[in-house]
Amino acid sequence: MFYCYSSKVTYLKAVILAGGFATRLRPLSCSRPKTLFPIVNKPLLQWIFEELANNDVKEVILAVNALTQFHIKQQKLPKCGLKIKYVIDPPKMPLGTAGPIKNAEKLVGHDEPFIVLNGDILTIINYKQLFNTHVNTDALATIALCKVDNPCRYGVVELEKDKRVKRFIEKPPEGQAPTNLINAGAYVLSPKVFDYIPKGKPCSIEREIFPLLTKEHKLFGHTFNDLWMDIGKPEEYLLTNKIILDGLALNKKIKTFKGAKVEMPIAIDKHVTVGKKTIVGPYVTLGRNVVLRDNVQIYNSIVFPDVEIGDNSIVNGAIIGEGAIIGKNVRVNNGCIISDQVKIRDNVNLTEDFAICPAKEVSETILKRNIIC
Ligand code: GTP
Repeated sequence: MFYCYSSKVTYLKAVILAGGFATRLRPLSCSRPKTLFPIVNKPLLQWIFEELANNDVKEVILAVNALTQFHIKQQKLPKCGLKIKYVIDPPKMPLGTAGPIKNAEKLVGHDEPFIVLNGDILTIINYKQLFNTHVNTDALATIALCKVDNPCRYGVVELEKDKRVKRFIEKPPEGQAPTNLINAGAYVLSPKVFDYIPKGKPCSIEREIFPLLTKEHKLFGHTFNDLWMDIGKPEEYLLTNKIILDGLALNKKIKTFKGAKVEMPIAIDKHVTVGKKTIVGPYVTLGRNVVLRDNVQIYNSIVFPDVEIGDNSIVNGAIIGEGAIIGKNVRVNNGCIISDQVKIRDNVNLTEDFAICPAKEVSETILKRNIIC
């Protein structure tokens, strides 16, 4: 089917919220913003740019803090034909999920509705359909909605027959969600919404603005069934990579390394070295310049660029940050998070769900689940 934007729209803009602190992804997020986490070796933000460009969005306004802006600029991501602008939260005053939208008011302007999306979701949304639902109703905001098995961790929505939101309940108690339709973190807003958001102070779109719009019958929902993944927690981040690997495996040639065994699906970036008798996969992504020495076993894991893993080490179900060095005969067990530039000495065994902050060193076996900072 072919969809086009309502004829009223000439130049579509999207505000991407990417200035949060990603506390649930700590300590991995201490040294990189969530929106730059690689999904199968490509930063999430680049996936988002591609999806927006595919939907004929022309301009992106990144609503971030100064540090996130610095990290994003350093990455020099391909712009996919988009014009990229920034709005920065004031120092020491994160503006939440609505404040940054108000902060973008001048750049967005008041001419036509615009898209807002969270910078931590990987999704295929037909923004044209979402947009048209918006302009064909008297909505001030239209939320993209998707179905999930456990809705209680999200904003749950109950709709009227005409797609108007009847109830919007942010994170209802377990078992009390009226539906399994949730806020997917992508919206179309009319410029009138700027009048609802206070200037220069923190404000939450989910807790303050959407409930207000629901009361005024001006909030609508648009349900979609395509891919939607939130990378907010380590297990969700691993799962997102897994699902994308499954999708990509359909069209990819099997990669081989002499003397090593590869179990698809895996993704391998440029300049990766894999030693003899090493087993890679299934569900492994290896970033640029990764070195796996001899007889390494690695399964269900994400390895960021410039990591080295020594002879006879086993990594299963873990995330290994950029530049980390894992010694020989090391065990990195399920749920472990090894942050950027960490060093794990030879013969260390790391218990499940162990996490370590950037640039730390571990020289002894860890048997208790904890975080070392
Ligand atoms: P947690 O601390 O783990 O909950 O993560 P988060 O706050 O970074 O993300 P959350 O899912 O709560 O927020 C949804 C989106 O809004 C994410 O893409 C965040 O980066 C973004 N966001 C959250 N708070 C702020 C903020 O204060 N300012 C800006 N500019 N963006 C924000």
